[in-house]
Amino acid sequence: MQQASKSPATGLNVAPLKDDFGAQIFDVDLQTADDALLQKVVETFHAHGAIVLRNQTMEPDDLMRFIQAFGEPELHTQTKFCLPGYPHIFKISNMVDENGEPIGAHNDGLGWHTDYSYKEEPVMCTMLYAVTVPEEGGDTLLADQVAAYNDLPDDEKAVLDTLKIHHSLVHFIQNRDFNSYEITDELRRENPDVIHPLVRVHPADGRKALWVSTGTVKHILGMEDEEAMALIERLVAYTTQPKYVYQHKWQKGDLLMWDNRCTLHTGTRYDDVKYQRMAHRLWVKGERPIAVWDASEDARKAS
Ligand SMILES: [Fe+2]
Repeated sequence: MQQASKSPATGLNVAPLKDDFGAQIFDVDLQTADDALLQKVVETFHAHGAIVLRNQTMEPDDLMRFIQAFGEPELHTQTKFCLPGYPHIFKISNMVDENGEPIGAHNDGLGWHTDYSYKEEPVMCTMLYAVTVPEEGGDTLLADQVAAYNDLPDDEKAVLDTLKIHHSLVHFIQNRDFNSYEITDELRRENPDVIHPLVRVHPADGRKALWVSTGTVKHILGMEDEEAMALIERLVAYTTQPKYVYQHKWQKGDLLMWDNRCTLHTGTRYDDVKYQRMAHRLWVKGERPIAVWDASEDARKAS
């Protein structure tokens, strides 16, 4: 890991997770942190795209207080896996109850994606807190979509900047290998298909990110399906090369949080017969993705 140093902006001790991406924050106990300190953590998150804090002890009320420092918490699609009394805290687990029923979502996050890409207003950020961790595997990988976009040739950026992706939850459910969702009329009603830009502009500072995702992408507007899916596949392979990826190896008490506007993420498998896992996931509501053409229009109006 790179050397920790005091951030001139916040005074917090931080070290990059990878090159210019992400920050591990040291010497902060989130459970006892006051509001001013939490704001510095929020500031660090917005500047770096992802944060890690280790050795935390977070009860459900602590998680709720922490997430609310970032915005309004988002509810989850599969309410049956939420912590009783805490509809904003979702359990990711391979554990079962006394009747052998799963108590959390298992293997849900496998495959490069960004959370709630099938919603009009996808979640701004995702936070995971490790309660029980497998001794090996079950890593979380984050791909820095800003660095990947910046490295593209200008002529390719110009083409990608104009593209629109059709995302569909139903398409996602129908095409994956394993399933914990049931396609009901209610699910269809609550999750109509949406169109989002392929390149997303960050509202904080205008940085641009590739915003591709596997799974929910049904097609790209104006392109033949085969050509569109080949492009998505090529871009996901490009943007998830090791040079753009931070791999988080979990320890109990870790808190990892990433900005879905400028990252893709995936989980890795673990031996779910040998090991148990329990992580708590919380989301913060987001805004409609800003496209390059929206940003240009805003700049034109402002001038
Ligand atoms: Fe996810």
